[in-house]
Amino acid sequence: MTAPRHVAPSTPPSRKSSRTERKSLMKSYFVTTPIYYVNAKPHLGHAYTTVVADALARYHKLSGEDTLFLTGTDEHGDKIVQAAEKEGKAPKEFVDGISARFQELWPQLGVANDRFVRTTDEQHIRAVQRFLQKVYDAGDIYFGEFGGHYCYGCERFYTEKELENGLCPQHQTKPEFISEKNYFFKMSKYLPWLREYIEQHPDFIRPERYRNELLGMLDSGGLEDLCISRPKSRLTWGIELPFDKDYVCYVWFDALLNYISALGWPEGDYARYWPGEHLVAKDILKPHGIFWPTMLKAAGMPLYKRLNVHGYWLVRDTKMSKSLGNVVDPVDMCRRFGQDAFRYFLLREMHFGSDASFSEDAFISRTNADLANDLGNLFSRVLSMCAKYCDSKVPEAGPLNDEDKAVAELAADALRNFRQLFGNVQFSQALESLWELVRALNKYVDAQAPWTLYKNGDTLRLGTVMQVLLTAMRKVAVCVWPVMPQASVTLLRQLGQDVSDTAVPVASLDAEEDDFTLLTPGTALAASSNLFPRRDMPAPTTPPAGEKKAKKEKKAPAAATPAPGEISFDHFKAVDMRVGTIRHAEKHPDADRILRLEIDFGEGQTRQILSGLAEYYAPQDLIGKQVCAVLNLAPRKIRGLVSCGMVLTAEKDGKLCLLQPADAMPEGSGIA
Ligand code: MSP
Repeated sequence: MTAPRHVAPSTPPSRKSSRTERKSLMKSYFVTTPIYYVNAKPHLGHAYTTVVADALARYHKLSGEDTLFLTGTDEHGDKIVQAAEKEGKAPKEFVDGISARFQELWPQLGVANDRFVRTTDEQHIRAVQRFLQKVYDAGDIYFGEFGGHYCYGCERFYTEKELENGLCPQHQTKPEFISEKNYFFKMSKYLPWLREYIEQHPDFIRPERYRNELLGMLDSGGLEDLCISRPKSRLTWGIELPFDKDYVCYVWFDALLNYISALGWPEGDYARYWPGEHLVAKDILKPHGIFWPTMLKAAGMPLYKRLNVHGYWLVRDTKMSKSLGNVVDPVDMCRRFGQDAFRYFLLREMHFGSDASFSEDAFISRTNADLANDLGNLFSRVLSMCAKYCDSKVPEAGPLNDEDKAVAELAADALRNFRQLFGNVQFSQALESLWELVRALNKYVDAQAPWTLYKNGDTLRLGTVMQVLLTAMRKVAVCVWPVMPQASVTLLRQLGQDVSDTAVPVASLDAEEDDFTLLTPGTALAASSNLFPRRDMPAPTTPPAGEKKAKKEKKAPAAATPAPGEISFDHFKAVDMRVGTIRHAEKHPDADRILRLEIDFGEGQTRQILSGLAEYYAPQDLIGKQVCAVLNLAPRKIRGLVSCGMVLTAEKDGKLCLLQPADAMPEGSGIA
């Protein structure tokens, strides 16, 4: 075992460098969200992308980078005109109202964007016209006659090949055939180059499934030149083409340019921050993966660094939609449960790239387990012990023994994994590795039993144990800042750290990784901590009216009212049962009949489950066996150890037998 490295305080620069000079020496990081349409109010989906961007921006700030985080609103096009008409408003009046709603929303979710771009901003309009002129002058825009299937919902033309049974693949509506003269961008000229670029840059589009999807699109032969204008006779709410006043720019060509117009391209901060990283959901993969890089190439500009594509948030496995009445309101969630818990849930529950299902049950069981039981409990018990045993002051410590050093090493590993995964947009896995440390610290409390040290008057050892805990807890509190900024600040203050509400809590995460310098003795600590209260599960509800209707259309059998002694299907579905593989088994140190199992449920989730199997199975015989378990049972403490779930068994003649799947299953497979 190697002792953790201690980092000396950094030496001050030999002369005072100016703020701009220092910034220019720093690595820069620029992250964007899509600019959202202003025809509807923001929901969980918009909140997710923006919270992820905020967390990434905060993470890069914490890593000491010169970071810029941009979001905004997309305000041109047919859809907006139609939405404005519905409300009897002029387009500009309408977009001003909804754009303001987006801008007001973000702080309520703890989102601190550095810039907000609107496609009706003068600076944006000028940049779009400049870009169009540049590509036109280079000969990559031409005028031609075109007939195509136009979907008003998507605001784009579809080729015959792209339609599904003659319908728009997104909206399942029949597009209108429109034939008119328009301007075209020679996109097809750049497609072979783009294919090669994507092949040669495996990290350009991530996760890999979306890269493959794009390569599939490029190979399908369905891509042609891009129609980039709309005649004013049909639409006036757009940016006028600089080379033809009878036309406005196609909304996507206009919108994509927000990523550089907001930087003040070609001047301003463009050189400082471009190229940046984009975050989008899979619905807008094509404009970001095909239109945008070819547009940049045609203008002779560097491509973006990376496109990060995530899946959809679903509600009861269905897409959120107003007509189904299942749209989740992020502001309401934050008001009821707090912005930190909401942000934590979003980042922990969705595996970036895959779809995820939102439900209040899932929200409550996740936040109860991770925040109330693991993190909240750790802070609460350690701080109240410090109040009782050390007068709420950081105590003096003696030398670290092997167990203490193992904690320091675990902290270094957890931080290293956390950083690598977080930077790789694997937020869920990153948080899981940090929580391995949180759970290990709770175990360390149990194993070191500070109450016994206190009873025995072993003050120095007691001080060391509390110091090891407080030091590791400080690291956890720093690392959660990108995800739970308010909670991070509160936890750090409870540990006596002097942090501001808005600035990054430490100068750089680099120094945090291997350094295990203990806290300054004498620092005042909070006497208690109760940041994450446990929540009760909501009573099962009947699905909203619209959802019932949708189910009916699919001819689902009507849900029967449970008879006495029966449970409803909703109750049954609320039980999270999964297959897992036992990785470790041993006897409970203080309970003869109980085995302590570590069970792997896939995607980095390993749980400790206690089970009364000791009389029937030898621990070594269980390793590698697959079992079925209930995961969302409230954790239970059995003689000092916490059981997070229950393994399913059957009983015959008083003997317990483990239930196993008939065939080997991937870890985490759901049982229904
Ligand atoms: N205006 C365009 C984007 C132009 S960017 C140059 C647009 N706007 S949108 O309002 O429809 O936003 C789409 C984005 O909202 C998705 O890519 C995603 O970021 C977010 N989401 C909307 N619904 C979502 C889910 N159900 N789940 C996850 N994210 C979703 O497209």
